[in-house]
Amino acid sequence: MAKKKAAVKVMGVDVGGSGIKGGIVDLRIGELITERHRIKTPKPATPKAVAGVVSELVDHFSWKGQVGVAIPTIVRRGFVHSAANIDKSWVGENAEKRFSKALSRPVRVLNDADAAGLAELHYGTAAEYATDGVAILLTFGTGIGSAIFVDGQLLPNSELGHLQLQGDDAEHWASAKAREDEKLSWKAWAARVTKYLAHLEFLFSPDVFIIGGGVSRQSADFFPYLKSSARIIAAELENRAGVVGAAWYAAQEGAL
Ligand code: BGC
Repeated sequence: MAKKKAAVKVMGVDVGGSGIKGGIVDLRIGELITERHRIKTPKPATPKAVAGVVSELVDHFSWKGQVGVAIPTIVRRGFVHSAANIDKSWVGENAEKRFSKALSRPVRVLNDADAAGLAELHYGTAAEYATDGVAILLTFGTGIGSAIFVDGQLLPNSELGHLQLQGDDAEHWASAKAREDEKLSWKAWAARVTKYLAHLEFLFSPDVFIIGGGVSRQSADFFPYLKSSARIIAAELENRAGVVGAAWYAAQEGAL
């Protein structure tokens, strides 16, 4: 029997602290072929409420095909093992089962920063830098997400946003949300990020940092202030990376 042809168009969903975004991705080019539709993250963001919004997004596109979902938690073989910026009731949840049931089809789930990293690796600038040596992608948003690549292989669920810095989780001090909450200038915030990068550099000796998350759209405002002996590049897919990476992952075999 002929092998089933891999899907070319897959829907990706990125669950964030403030918004849940979705769109249909053409995996041949790693680009959205629809708008990126956004619905506010429900409060509290329980598994049931989030699954409801994901289902709304699927309905918005009248999408009948495959779906991948990226969530801001540790995800091991479909199960959630942490919940920093999402309702605590996610811990222990079988997320793949939850979304598969809500959407009446098999759904694959992975960590949001890993999704962004995989998208950058397969379709973005990182393709050039992350396939040889050590690369760390960081997403700055409500929290700080991380994806570590060694010679193009992902070490899943790295959670570098929770490293201790200034006596607290680094993400409480250096995320994009911290910049907004504390009304920091780009320069002042970049000084914090530089300190964070220095800590990561000491621990992992990366060749390159890829700076992602919503802020990567404004890289011109803060890149001039960032310093590191590792190369620093802006993520190319900007705020589409989570959606594209989730779609890419849904089309793969094997689980993270
Ligand atoms: C979570 C990570 C997530 C990151 C970005 C952190 O608080 O622990 O799993 O990747 O936020 O959303």
